[in-house]
Amino acid sequence: MRTPLIAANWKMHKALKEAVDFVGRFAALASAGSMEIVICPAFVHLAAVGEICQKHGIKLGAQNMFWEATGAFTGEISPPMLKDLGVDYVIIGHSERREHFAENDRQIARKVKAAFQFNLVPILCVGETLQQRRASRTMDVIAEQVNGALSGLDPSWVRRIVIAYEPVWAIGSGLAATGSVAGAAGAWIRATIGEMFSLDVARAVRILYGGSVQAENIEDFLRETDIDGALVGGASLDADNFARLVNRAQEAVTA
Ligand code: 13P
Repeated sequence: MRTPLIAANWKMHKALKEAVDFVGRFAALASAGSMEIVICPAFVHLAAVGEICQKHGIKLGAQNMFWEATGAFTGEISPPMLKDLGVDYVIIGHSERREHFAENDRQIARKVKAAFQFNLVPILCVGETLQQRRASRTMDVIAEQVNGALSGLDPSWVRRIVIAYEPVWAIGSGLAATGSVAGAAGAWIRATIGEMFSLDVARAVRILYGGSVQAENIEDFLRETDIDGALVGGASLDADNFARLVNRAQEAVTA
């Protein structure tokens, strides 16, 4: 049984007070049941947000990290630094990092490996651009990204990974994928992992959908066999709104 997971990616939003206040309000309104909830604030707010999250059984995630443990890498944050702050999850290879910071599959693979080495669970993001979808390259692109990030890894690590299918055209656009488009991508990701590792590993991996997820459409995604949750951007920024989304998700997974 895979535990459903809803993760909030706050990106570069919120001042410290707003970030801290969010958690108490959200926790008062949301019933996550058996689902896992992860909040990924900006690096500088991890400590403060993490402290309150812990009280409410909410997991803490980072939005990125570097692969080295220490060294002369000005401005970077290492896996053990995150671990020290109580971080459990780390988003790796988000399309915004691929696009604006030129992250490539080789760098992403190093980050995924480093996350596992330091006992952090990577949330690996994959997904095609609109141009790639129009050229019918979606499945090739996803398989390349999964292969690029995971090949050569220990299967006992890979079974713990979370993969977020986030089509670039659906992020922040209000144009979410349909449940069946997300479900097909999820099935394809699982099949790819099955081929690379084993059926058993593939069955253990949690796959999320991300891209314009709202309280109104979360059920469409959770209905899909190969979708185990969501990575939520815009709709995770307001506590009431995110609690509504989580409550709907909880109803959907227990239905
Ligand atoms: P939106 O939910 O705002 O489309 O963002 C999705 C995302 O990029 C989460 O990582």
